[in-house]
Amino acid sequence: MVFERRYHPELAMSLADKRDLLNERDALAVWMYVPGPRRRLIGESYGVPVQAALADEEPEGKADLRPFAKSRAFYVYSTTILRQYEDRGLGAILKAYVLGRAFEAGYRWVVGHAKEGASVALNQRFGAEVRRRHAHWSGNGDPYQFYVLKLR
Ligand SMILES: CC(C)(COP(=O)(O)OP(=O)(O)OC[C@H]1O[C@@H](n2cnc3c(N)ncnc32)[C@H](O)[C@@H]1OP(=O)(O)O)[C@@H](O)C(=O)NCCC(=O)NCCS
Repeated sequence: MVFERRYHPELAMSLADKRDLLNERDALAVWMYVPGPRRRLIGESYGVPVQAALADEEPEGKADLRPFAKSRAFYVYSTTILRQYEDRGLGAILKAYVLGRAFEAGYRWVVGHAKEGASVALNQRFGAEVRRRHAHWSGNGDPYQFYVLKLR
């Protein structure tokens, strides 16, 4: 649970919630490690089919997802690089890997709500279109944007 420390307390997931989410059918999670026997973590990214995100009781952002309810769309919950490894291109490598895994798994769209700044820019770098802006995502004061990325 080292990655959750990077998030506002309103957004950080509990271990139980994360377990439930990753137990969803067709969930996908990837981790990046420092090479070597200790396998220290660098980054993680995970998500679920958009249908599972729509079934979540949390209503925020659902209006953005509804148009994808019948699509093979992967909803990314989180992409995080630990602070000491940031700005070295590792987030881009992790993103490329998760997009490739999603395509392989049969998804044709990747959607998510990304924090304005580095996270939105990272998705745009892979061709994501930015749509609705949420000025205070989960009441935490940070602006997030809904993004849509067509896999091809
Ligand atoms: C977003 C995050 C994953 C980026 O990881 P990173 O390893 O630092 O990213 P990279 O070094 O691979 O940078 C990739 C691209 O992101 C963008 N980027 C990175 N940092 C940026 C910043 N501070 N401002 C604007 N764009 C930025 C750039 O487009 C960069 O491409 P470039 O190298 O061609 O300029 C990382 O900053 C993070 O974990 N942040 C905290 C957690 C978080 O907020 N996650 C998202 C919530 S949805």
